[in-house]
Amino acid sequence: MLLDRSFELARKAEEIDALAAKRKNVIASDQMIEGEYPIFVDRTSGAYFWDVDGNRYLDFFLSYGTVVLGHADRDVDDQVIAEIRKGFATGLSKPVQTELVSELLEVIPGAEMAMLMKTGSDATGAAVRLSRSFTGRDRVARFGYNGWHDWCAQWDHGIPRATRDLVHTFAYNDLDSLRALFERHPGEIACVVMMPFEVEPPAPGFLEGVRELTRAHGALLVLDEMRSGFRMALGGAQEYFGVTADLATFSKAFANGYAISALTGRAEVLRRLDRVHISSTFYANSDAMAAALATLRKLRSGPHLERIHTLGSRLQDGLRELTDKYAAPVEVVGHPPMPFLDFRLGSEEENQAAKRSFYTETIRAGVFFHPNHHWFVCAATTEEDIDTAIEAARGGFEALVRDGYTGAVRSGEAAR
Ligand SMILES: Cc1ncc(COP(=O)(O)O)c(C=O)c1O
Repeated sequence: MLLDRSFELARKAEEIDALAAKRKNVIASDQMIEGEYPIFVDRTSGAYFWDVDGNRYLDFFLSYGTVVLGHADRDVDDQVIAEIRKGFATGLSKPVQTELVSELLEVIPGAEMAMLMKTGSDATGAAVRLSRSFTGRDRVARFGYNGWHDWCAQWDHGIPRATRDLVHTFAYNDLDSLRALFERHPGEIACVVMMPFEVEPPAPGFLEGVRELTRAHGALLVLDEMRSGFRMALGGAQEYFGVTADLATFSKAFANGYAISALTGRAEVLRRLDRVHISSTFYANSDAMAAALATLRKLRSGPHLERIHTLGSRLQDGLRELTDKYAAPVEVVGHPPMPFLDFRLGSEEENQAAKRSFYTETIRAGVFFHPNHHWFVCAATTEEDIDTAIEAARGGFEALVRDGYTGAVRSGEAAR
């Protein structure tokens, strides 16, 4: 694929744009397959986007999962445009704010109140601060990616030791590792903040066990539903797995791509806002609220999420047939709306080399699978699109055979 314009723009951006200069919190070239993936996008529509060189891609990245209905959804965008035309930046409340919160409470389990913010990190950060205030405790136990703020940043640089020392990670599907934290710090853990799952599904009883442990130790349970919310089910993983947290955080699919997040949960915790400082100039802007309301109403109006599950299953089934057929050292993992391929060669270097073979084929076939982040399916995808994606993957698996990466994953070979 010709990517000249993308690379030309990237070279220019890297000189002047600190985020574009290969930082890992944008789609860094080292997360993709160097030289093969587009960098600059021109336009989007439905399940597709076009890069600045005119290449079209079937999108399974969907802006980190924010796009749930499809790119540039008219029903959502029209509401946003109408809100913008009426005036969206007033610093005061617009009626859409109360309408949105009220509809949000109807669909999110355990949501007695909600607070609207802008980013996912805003919401998880607010959940932690409120939990600390509510419980009078300082420590936090957490699992998964929860944002970039001091309490949960992935890298230590720039974070004071004192802040880091108050936050403890635990292992997924391992209740003992969480229990050990509670035993080591009795009466000190304010909350457990966790993604309900990342790639590996919850083992039977695991989420319920976390719920019991938090209750038993007087800590709050905060489910970070940034990826699972409005995708696994309308009421997120709480509805899907039948576990209710004290607080839950949402963003991404909430507004089909517009910047908004929400913290929902028990009123007595959220009422702590009267003594906890959480505020931002742009929280009152109503453009993204209009987007969230339109997205929520559209998701409620038809079987869009069911369709996403069906399409995701079709993709996973097709990929599983191929991993069997080509004896690929790869396992199809994740829930159907958020599938992924887990490469299981001996070492990380071999995995990266095999990924290069596989994903070079799929991206050249015009299918945008992210090599290092799980994928997402949106409602604008069609059955034919899924079949196209499976065919592209066939090319990827043939490349694995060609390059000598074979040897099926043996059952019992646990990944993560
Ligand atoms: C599970 C989860 N929590 C929190 C965040 C942080 O959200 P944001 O990047 O909008 O700050 C993300 C973002 O990817 C996420 O996936």
